[in-house]
Amino acid sequence: MSNNKKYAVTVAGGGSTFTPGIALMLLEERDRFPIRKIMFYDNDAERQEIVAKACEIYLKENAPDIEFGYTTDPETAFTDIDFVLAHIRVGKYAMREKDEKIPLKYGVVGQETCGPGGIAYGMRSIGGVLEILDYMETYSPNAWMLNYSNPAAIVAEATRRLRPNSKILNICDMPIDLEEKMANMVGLSSRKEMQVGYYGLNHFGWWHKIYDKDGNDLMPAIKEHMAANGFADALSQTNQHVDQSWIETFQKARDVYAVDPSTIPNTYLKYYLFPDYVVEHSNPEYTRANEVMDGREKHVFGMCRDIIAKGTAKDCGFEADAHATYIVDLACAIAENTRERFLLIVPNEGAVENFDRTAMVEIPCIVGSNGYERICQGAIPQFQKGLMEQQVSVEKLAVEAWIEGSYQKLWQALTLSKTVPSARVAKLILDDLIEANKDYWPELK
Ligand code: NAD
Ligand code: G6P
Ligand code: MN
Repeated sequence: MSNNKKYAVTVAGGGSTFTPGIALMLLEERDRFPIRKIMFYDNDAERQEIVAKACEIYLKENAPDIEFGYTTDPETAFTDIDFVLAHIRVGKYAMREKDEKIPLKYGVVGQETCGPGGIAYGMRSIGGVLEILDYMETYSPNAWMLNYSNPAAIVAEATRRLRPNSKILNICDMPIDLEEKMANMVGLSSRKEMQVGYYGLNHFGWWHKIYDKDGNDLMPAIKEHMAANGFADALSQTNQHVDQSWIETFQKARDVYAVDPSTIPNTYLKYYLFPDYVVEHSNPEYTRANEVMDGREKHVFGMCRDIIAKGTAKDCGFEADAHATYIVDLACAIAENTRERFLLIVPNEGAVENFDRTAMVEIPCIVGSNGYERICQGAIPQFQKGLMEQQVSVEKLAVEAWIEGSYQKLWQALTLSKTVPSARVAKLILDDLIEANKDYWPELK
């Protein structure tokens, strides 16, 4: 960093399975993003303490100059900070499991961010994310929040409606991983050697242009790979999307691609275009939440407990999340006005010409110290427009339902989801979800 400033960062969701990887990544990137303070904040003291105590030991051994703290007190967490990195999961994995299993009972896709499960998660997340944004604005009014708490599409629409002037950037890591894979397909060492055109909603978008630095069109070569193996034959430097279920998702992208071979799809479109396949290949007794609890959660918390028991983090297995360096890129863009390009989830305002101006779309933006500028993507084809009109209405109705406490609007949101076959099934699922979420959702009338 050229301005010699050192930054203070609060990680909201300190007890997240991703927190150690993010903290180590921040340490590794200190040359370009110098840090003076890292704070963890969570509303579950016990869960956070395990992660935080282990990270405290790691930081003492590897970066004693950095001030470190962890707390459940908002004032302590959000005073004197420059950035909030937010990755909270309201209701934790226990509720993710319900989001995934309840729709499956009715033969409907059970997924964290897509379909009824995503709507249910959205109804929990909105309040949690708004609360953190408000704490940040109260105690550090100049700070920026980089939010990747899910479901990002619904959370972003809620912040557009309810906190339109707040300094929050909503971002997703799925395109980052997929762009790394596409760069690998064409023999480039990094996605940063590509310039892309992309439009859609979060977890619901398409690449329509990909060039290298000299302006050569990379789409033909990438399409050949997609037609043969989807994203499955390409590598990327992430330890996140490596489980068997992810590998199957990367393979299935071949069929998703076949529906519109003029674009490259985001992997999440499989839930909307092949819901019958997804349901047939789901185990209603053991979903992704179970895999994550038995896998990543056990692994991360196991390492943390081990560090605490030994009193040292030497050879502990902690690894920096290389994939998450995009968060530092984004922080640097704001702090140092780098004007780098990112796919962000922002109000459309005409960037997708023939689409709702008030929709939160995922598009390339240039980011600098005054925020973002959209890069226009022009008019989109009828197929994508039709899908996006339907999905954005689901997201808007869910947010309206949260704001107004409206049962009717939430029923409409579920009914409109392409993953749900009828208003009858939507109601059955909704009534189960209401019961399961009574501690988290506003009361619906
Ligand atoms: P996790 O359950 O391990 O961690 C989430 C933490 O948030 C928990 O410790 C929980 O106690 C805490 N929390 C819940 N509600 C809170 C609140 N109101 N205030 C403060 N803390 C609260 O979950 P995880 O699997 O590590 O994922 C964390 C989040 O990151 C999820 O929202 C996930 O969907 C998201 N995520 C997003 C991307 C992306 O691309 N956008 C990528 C990976 C993960
Ligand atoms: C991708 C998405 C995230 C999502 C994550 C789920 O990275 O972009 O938004 O949270 O996958 O991964 P998991 O391993 O928890 O199923
Ligand atoms: Mn995402």
